[in-house]
Amino acid sequence: HAYIKEVEAFQTTDKNELEQFRIKFIGSKGILKDLFAAFKAVPNEEKKAFGQLINQLKNAAEEKVAQITATLEAATLSAPTLNDLTRPGEAFTLGARHPISIVKNQILDVFASIGFNVSDGPEIEDDWHNFTALNLPEYHPARDMQDTFFIQTNPDILLRTHTSSVQVRYMEANKPPIRTISPGRVFRNEAISSRSHCIFHQVEGLYIDKDVSFADLKQTVLYFTKEMFGKSKIRLRPSYFPFTEPSAEVDIYWGLKTETDYRITKGTGWLEIMGCGMVDPNVLKNCNINPDEFTGFAFGMGIERIAMLLYQIGDIRMFYENDVRFLNQFSSAI
Ligand code: PHE
Repeated sequence: HAYIKEVEAFQTTDKNELEQFRIKFIGSKGILKDLFAAFKAVPNEEKKAFGQLINQLKNAAEEKVAQITATLEAATLSAPTLNDLTRPGEAFTLGARHPISIVKNQILDVFASIGFNVSDGPEIEDDWHNFTALNLPEYHPARDMQDTFFIQTNPDILLRTHTSSVQVRYMEANKPPIRTISPGRVFRNEAISSRSHCIFHQVEGLYIDKDVSFADLKQTVLYFTKEMFGKSKIRLRPSYFPFTEPSAEVDIYWGLKTETDYRITKGTGWLEIMGCGMVDPNVLKNCNINPDEFTGFAFGMGIERIAMLLYQIGDIRMFYENDVRFLNQFSSAI
């Protein structure tokens, strides 16, 4: 009886005291153990009453331990969480920006710093803005340079093959001086491989003013490669585009430090990063700009290829698979 009273009266907020209590009553050398041992010696007629008492004591002790343990646990959970300012914060996960967006924003920033604004236009285009205004009349063989996805023929409606279409729209709507950058998704009916895809992203630029020269173009491209890649070794190779004359292809010297550099540059260390040239007078005329008064240059580059170089991505298809293991690797970039 005295033990039962003691058990019922027991209270503590201390873990160690509780443990002492548990050992004293239910431990392997505890009071209950002794009582069960003594039970054997109890005369038969008293066995029932004695047994009931031991069981009562056992249940009371066990219940007490369980109840105090629960109270203590609840207390350790809430109090310090609310009051302890030294506890480490709980991390929460932010998504990652897509590498194409990261690189696109970097390119736009570089050109913003030299006065280019950003323009955009529709992905579904008409023949005029994608081809004809750009000095590619119907049946012009250069139309085959960019295999086109047609949505409708006669009149032709198509998925734009470059964002030069945006430049046409911009010239139609604005008077020189013009300094604009047109980023966007473009579409070409090409076989998909590790190096090319039927959907990709471009940034094209257009600069029109009085007395704009090829030297201005060259210097702008050089400024861009320095800012974007920290590299100033570039070369311009003569090329052909129907909308520019003269035209050039810009290569930058990337080097051959890694396996991916080797793959992407086909072992030369040089990588073609953009096409460019002086805007053809016919294009200016088509957009109601007087070629005797104004000249300009244009350039265009693929974002994927630049992102592949910067992040050492060996296969262009990774950009479109949306595998979170790939995308999460960009979570530290802004
Ligand atoms: N529009 C061209 C392309 O998509 C790139 C380019 C733009 C070339 C402007 C010259 C001038 O390949």
